[in-house]
Amino acid sequence: MVSFFFFILFVTSFYANTKPIEANCPPVQCSHDAAAPEIRYPFWLKDRLHQNCGHPAFELFCKENTTMIHFPSYGDLVVKSINYHTKKLQLVDPKNCVHEVFLNLNLSLPSVFRYYYVVKNYTYLNCSARLPPSFKQVPCLSSSSAYFVYTVKPSVEVPLYCRVMKTIAIPFAYSPYVADNSFGLGLTWELPRCENCKEKGGPKNFLSKTAFLNYIP
Ligand SMILES: *[C@@H]1O[C@H](CO)[C@@H](O)[C@H](O)[C@H]1NC(C)=O
Ligand SMILES: *[C@@H]1O[C@H](CO)[C@@H](O)[C@H](O)[C@H]1NC(C)=O
Ligand SMILES: *[C@@H]1O[C@H](CO)[C@@H](O)[C@H](O)[C@H]1NC(C)=O
Ligand SMILES: *[C@@H]1O[C@H](CO)[C@@H](O)[C@H](O)[C@H]1NC(C)=O
Repeated sequence: MVSFFFFILFVTSFYANTKPIEANCPPVQCSHDAAAPEIRYPFWLKDRLHQNCGHPAFELFCKENTTMIHFPSYGDLVVKSINYHTKKLQLVDPKNCVHEVFLNLNLSLPSVFRYYYVVKNYTYLNCSARLPPSFKQVPCLSSSSAYFVYTVKPSVEVPLYCRVMKTIAIPFAYSPYVADNSFGLGLTWELPRCENCKEKGGPKNFLSKTAFLNYIP
């Protein structure tokens, strides 16, 4: 009986604490489609009265009815899903070239995102002739006959007719068996520490999730 009372007390105080947050920061979506990602803290939507509901580094935007995220090093990617439990952001490249994303996406600090998968170094080669058939060229980065782009292990001896584009830590080498334009484009996130947010000029109430929640009137 006593524990039931405390349960009620707990539930009421829980709701008393969360109600104002929900009222101020209801989750939003870019479309009415049930499959559209739910946008809530730390994510927020640009161009809506939702700015104070997220962290500056987690800005999303809607393009038509699609949820998008912008990376200065690459451009816009489609947000397919957001899992707040596993902290996984599943992306899709609108240009349908996952390896172009891997090649260009710069997730160095201060980025709050990292690949969801374990990364390994691979070298992108741009060759003026085809490599032996055991190497599979990345079709979306290659031309039909002038140059051929490959992802190879950094230990591979570079033929004279190939130029090293970049060696970079990525989740997967190219495989013709995985042509899905979302394969490997999973990111995870980490909320920056408060010192970082201040330095980055973020609002001072973005100190931490707790500080943020306390800030809500
Ligand atoms: C967005 O969704 C609305 C409602 O479902 C629909 O009427 C509209 O045509 C869609 N717009 C685009 C650009 O797909
Ligand atoms: C990636 O971003 C970091 C931090 O903004 C920057 O210092 C670095 O030069 C960038 N790397 C490349 C390859 O552009
Ligand atoms: C990739 O190579 C760089 C430079 O050699 C190295 O510093 C880095 O630790 C390597 N990353 C991985 C994931 O092996
Ligand atoms: C590969 O090299 C060719 C010739 O130098 C160049 O035109 C092409 O843009 C390069 N491809 C990529 C993906 O960088």
